[in-house]
Amino acid sequence: MCGIVGINSSKPVTGVIINSLKKLEYRGYDSAGVAVLNDGLINETKCEGRVENLENIFLKNKNDGPVGIGHVRWATHGIPSQLNAHPHSSESVSVVHNGIIENSTILKKHLIRAGHQFKSQTDTEVITHLISEYLKKNDLKTSILKMLKRLHGSFAIGIILKNFPDVVVGVRRGSPLAVGYGPNENYLGSDSYALKTMTNKVTYLDDDEFCFIYKDHVEFYSADGEKINKEIIEVSSEQSDYDKGNFKHYMAKEIHEQPVTIKACLKEYIDQINQNINIINFPWDINEIENIKLIGCGTAYHSCLTAKYWIEQLTNIEVETDIASEFRYRKNRFKKSQLYIFVSQSGETADTYAALDLCKKNNMKTCSIVNVIESSIARDSDYVLPIHCGPEVGVASTKAFLGQLLVLYLLTLKLSVERKDVSQAKYKEKIKSVLMLPKLIKETLSTENEIQEAAKDFAHAKGSMFLGRGYSFPIALEGALKLKELAYVHAEGYPAGEMKHGPLALIEQGMPVVVIAPRDEFYKKTVSNMQEVISRGGKVLLISNKSTDEISSENLWKKIDVETVNDDLLPFLTTIPLQLLAYYAAHILGYDIDKPRNLAKSVTVE
Ligand code: M6R
Repeated sequence: MCGIVGINSSKPVTGVIINSLKKLEYRGYDSAGVAVLNDGLINETKCEGRVENLENIFLKNKNDGPVGIGHVRWATHGIPSQLNAHPHSSESVSVVHNGIIENSTILKKHLIRAGHQFKSQTDTEVITHLISEYLKKNDLKTSILKMLKRLHGSFAIGIILKNFPDVVVGVRRGSPLAVGYGPNENYLGSDSYALKTMTNKVTYLDDDEFCFIYKDHVEFYSADGEKINKEIIEVSSEQSDYDKGNFKHYMAKEIHEQPVTIKACLKEYIDQINQNINIINFPWDINEIENIKLIGCGTAYHSCLTAKYWIEQLTNIEVETDIASEFRYRKNRFKKSQLYIFVSQSGETADTYAALDLCKKNNMKTCSIVNVIESSIARDSDYVLPIHCGPEVGVASTKAFLGQLLVLYLLTLKLSVERKDVSQAKYKEKIKSVLMLPKLIKETLSTENEIQEAAKDFAHAKGSMFLGRGYSFPIALEGALKLKELAYVHAEGYPAGEMKHGPLALIEQGMPVVVIAPRDEFYKKTVSNMQEVISRGGKVLLISNKSTDEISSENLWKKIDVETVNDDLLPFLTTIPLQLLAYYAAHILGYDIDKPRNLAKSVTVE
């Protein structure tokens, strides 16, 4: 998604802005640009494609100055092109913007009538002209306040102005925006990652707030124009781990890191001496919770679906799951006895944030499970459980998924013992098993070569299916999502038992199908469903777990066995071959694994 960087300094800033934009590449983007203010003029440099292209242009023309803004764009209005890239500048104002201006069409009409000429197809350009228009008759603060009233939608905005050369303006509604502090210079960024090479001291703007960033100080204002004081936060240093190491792609590194990240998370949450889970100080009485609603998007939603099985099995709490973009627009029955859990790696996903905001406005109990602890979702939840897996750069979520599963599982265990739904003995036994995960995940990673072989058939397939029952059903959905987003192969995740109610018609000779059937309570049923697929020509790759008894199945194409563990924990292991399958299928096809087409790491627009 789009990213913003702004700097107010006494030294030239373009090179620093370009380096910071590189830090934002992980978000996914299609064009980039920078604008600087120098000698009373605004100078723009923009290009389609990578930040390297921008850097090459800059190295040739050396457009530089001490005050500037930069942007990486992920197209929403108008095609990816140099013209539509941000900043959008008039003679006197230059603007970068994340988010969507929902009333841009109507504003554009008014502004054209007032004599403004538009160059791009973007919604952002209305901001440039709107401010220019207000500045004709108002001071800067009044112009920003008037602009805030006119704009509908969600946005984070950075502005530089020809007639106010000593200031960078930041404005926020709905999309995150941070201010950073440096020695005799200050910064604006769409998140703390953007600023990490410059500072770890940041302030986050809240909705409808704006700021004037000067070289030596920053002024913050509320929506009614009152000057306000804001807290300065020191962001954690773990976010500095952006090295790909010896791996070709971040995704490969992140898949192989999972034994370590899971171990780190276990260390944070498990008191090994007392065999207890350190999830304490809930702001509510656990015994009053009658229902849990788990909300997320994409992979995070799949971790919610998996947790539903755990919570239902190990506690007496009722559980529902919801996709954030659906939840936020439905007529919800908010119940006092309900705990709302929001799962998000980035903590900035617009739909998940909006769902949280809705719950907050209805005075609900909110808990978030996030990777980025400084994120908007973490900051605005009543209770936060971090997944401690370090920065995830690859757009396809891997280690964060296992981290989310782990925290959800530990939370389930804690709830179950605190509410006396499981005995102390069973609780301790389960803690013992979960501590085995790092070793078992590491051993399961040794299936890599077999998976690499199988990936060839998936890479060249017209379509494929991923089937599972029980805990393995959400894992099937996750496996299919990974293959779609990385290898662009149509893949459908389905409950194995539902096949004969329609999708079985899709199976044709040679179609690759993944069946996830570890030896759990669903095993025999899933194997029967698998047989039905094989009988119709499906080429089945079976993901099971190591066992002494042979699988009684004829004409199975391939079988990959993960390690053996108690049933609850099987999703942690069956996920691994599916991550590798998608990785290798995309690799065979030569696709950009860390930045798949059309996608972004942090989905900050609806
Ligand atoms: O940052 P979040 O966990 O809120 O992101 C949610 C989804 O956008 C994300 O999981 C997406 O589905 C991944 N690209 C899947 O690999």
